[in-house]
Amino acid sequence: MKKNLKFGLIGAGFIGRTHALAIHAARQVFADLEYLPVAHMLCEVSPALAEKSARDLGFEKFTDDWRKLVDAVDVVVAAVPSHLHREIALYALASGKHLLCEKPVGLDSRELEQIRAAARQSTACHAVGFTYARAPMVTFAKRMVDDGKLGKLLHFSGRHNEDYLAGPSTAFTWRQESKIAGRFGVLGDLGYHILSIGRMLCGEVRAVCGLTETFYPTRKDAGGTPRAVENEDYAAFVSRFTDGGAGNFESSRLARGSKQNLSFELVGEAGAIRFSAERLNELQFYSGSDEPSTEGFRKILINAAQKPYSSFIPAPGHGLGFNDLKTIEIGQFVTAIAEQRRCLPDLDDAYAICKICEGVLQSDTEQRWIILR
Ligand SMILES: NC(=O)c1ccc[n+]([C@@H]2O[C@H](COP(=O)([O-])OP(=O)(O)OC[C@H]3O[C@@H](n4cnc5c(N)ncnc54)[C@H](O)[C@@H]3O)[C@@H](O)[C@H]2O)c1
Repeated sequence: MKKNLKFGLIGAGFIGRTHALAIHAARQVFADLEYLPVAHMLCEVSPALAEKSARDLGFEKFTDDWRKLVDAVDVVVAAVPSHLHREIALYALASGKHLLCEKPVGLDSRELEQIRAAARQSTACHAVGFTYARAPMVTFAKRMVDDGKLGKLLHFSGRHNEDYLAGPSTAFTWRQESKIAGRFGVLGDLGYHILSIGRMLCGEVRAVCGLTETFYPTRKDAGGTPRAVENEDYAAFVSRFTDGGAGNFESSRLARGSKQNLSFELVGEAGAIRFSAERLNELQFYSGSDEPSTEGFRKILINAAQKPYSSFIPAPGHGLGFNDLKTIEIGQFVTAIAEQRRCLPDLDDAYAICKICEGVLQSDTEQRWIILR
């Protein structure tokens, strides 16, 4: 008999819903899991919303008190705004509960350091919701780098641009309020994702020089009250990696027409790779050793070589979507728990990324390069 792993989901908003779908799907997609994820309890802000969300998303129990949820489960998924991450994470880890926390994990690097310290004291497993770093085409790109297909890495250019806040009349939300969203605006939202990939492919960031912009300093909230926008709409920075490679990163929440424009180009001495999350099931690869007459970027369509694609679909090229990436995340987390090993990217990665983003803000304020390591 396989052991059940009781999952508790705190927050059933945008990303909470994808976690819920993934907890159910992972059992079937990854049939060889040693432990079986069970959607045990869901927590929302009111009993009525908790009950409705639990019913809609197939959870056995519900509560409006996240401490009760933590006490009742084996695994805590924190899918709530950033100001709640710290308290939930500390309580979960002190209770020995495995923690899958959404990015950015807390409000700043001080909070993240406290959470990491708690994780070091705990035997529980932890991971962070860096959804795109687990995309099969992205992890395949990492394998190509490790296998030397690109040779020595030279430069990385990456962006995560969306238009969810485009135009001055789009309503103010918690993401623009620093006491809820934390120190970062778009950096902590989209910037974290492209940084998780940049670090995974190219290694640690040694230094940054950046700029940020808040194009609309006030926005009206849903009730029509003007509110100050307390964090950046746009960030761009150049960087050096510790092994000498160069990088440039951009993130915008005002980028008209960009719906999920997480994309990158990685150039090495021997070849190059291009990827865009708007074409999640493709990777473009250029090999410098191709015949000149037929050289060019070739499109690799997702297939069984890009694990764990074939756990979803046996035929190549049929494609995965965003919800499937969360299913992969849950599957990997359950496997790591069963095997008592790390599940990357985890709290240490979130901390390193947070320090990079803090370096970008400092660089902008002080108008100079910031050396991080
Ligand atoms: N990995 C990704 O791709 C991704 C995508 C979107 C959001 N996120 C992250 O997920 C987190 C949540 O973002 P979102 O877009 O889902 O926000 P959201 O506003 O859509 O949902 C948050 C939910 O949390 C609930 N909530 C708030 N306080 C609560 C409490 N005390 N107890 C229980 N529930 C509570 C809210 O009612 C809401 O339903 C953020 O940290 C965000 O950065 C990650």
